[in-house]
Amino acid sequence: MDHLIQRAVKHLAAAQNAVALTGAGISIESGIPPFRGKGGLWEKFDPMEIAHIDALIRDPARVWKILVKDLKDIIDRAAPNDGHKGLARLEKLGILKTVITQNIDGLHQMAGNTDVIEFHGTFAWQRCMKCDRRIETRKVDASVLPPRCGCSGILRPDAVFFGEMIPPVALWRSQEVTARCDVMLVVGTSAVVQPAASMPILAKQAGAVVIEINPEPTPLTGVVCDFLILGDAGAIMNRIISGLEAQR
Ligand code: OAD
Repeated sequence: MDHLIQRAVKHLAAAQNAVALTGAGISIESGIPPFRGKGGLWEKFDPMEIAHIDALIRDPARVWKILVKDLKDIIDRAAPNDGHKGLARLEKLGILKTVITQNIDGLHQMAGNTDVIEFHGTFAWQRCMKCDRRIETRKVDASVLPPRCGCSGILRPDAVFFGEMIPPVALWRSQEVTARCDVMLVVGTSAVVQPAASMPILAKQAGAVVIEINPEPTPLTGVVCDFLILGDAGAIMNRIISGLEAQR
């Protein structure tokens, strides 16, 4: 394990253009449940019933209640943990340039990362399904579900549901920063949802060193990633940052 931390430190210390791809696992230590695995949302709910665009159109009140309101309450109480803070520190050290996140919780920005691509959108904003107006979620009256826009249209999270396209700018920018990165950190993602899971493949094809941080192997492990550091994002990032700072 120690030698893997040292390997990561060595690659990051030499990097000019590191990029991170993150998933729900990095926010678990902030109290936000993941999607898959123990305690995951998809253990309790069928994603096709609450996270598919057809489900939202069919029963927006139900989707709002389960996915948006309850999850949003948890997100509102959450603060960045050592995993997020470690990535923000990596940016301050001039190593990490961009975070591509599948998370909709805004914790990378709160930790201090300044270039965060929200690959699956955000829960911080709502969009009217009729007039397309965007409204900050904190300004939405959710006492009656589903909340509505002034034009009477239903408000929906400005996030990607299954069956929807990735916001084109997020996709293009992710592909662009990935194609020119020299190190990619893949933190806390099961790497099973496309096209996010193809970013490490793109990085590898472009010649980057791909380092995975996860308590469990994923389909990328041993195939795409150069190595996996097994463990929780917070503890591993603390050790990597200590290693980097000791060198300066
Ligand atoms: P998942 O819930 O699929 O995977 C979470 C990953 O985090 C797993 O690989 C865990 O092993 C790992 N993990 C658990 N604890 C961890 C910790 N303390 N530190 C680091 N890693 C830890 O989450 P995502 O990969 O983000 O999309 O899921 C991808 C997409 O599937 C989501 O963005 C969402 C979902 O359906 C949409 O809703 C469109």
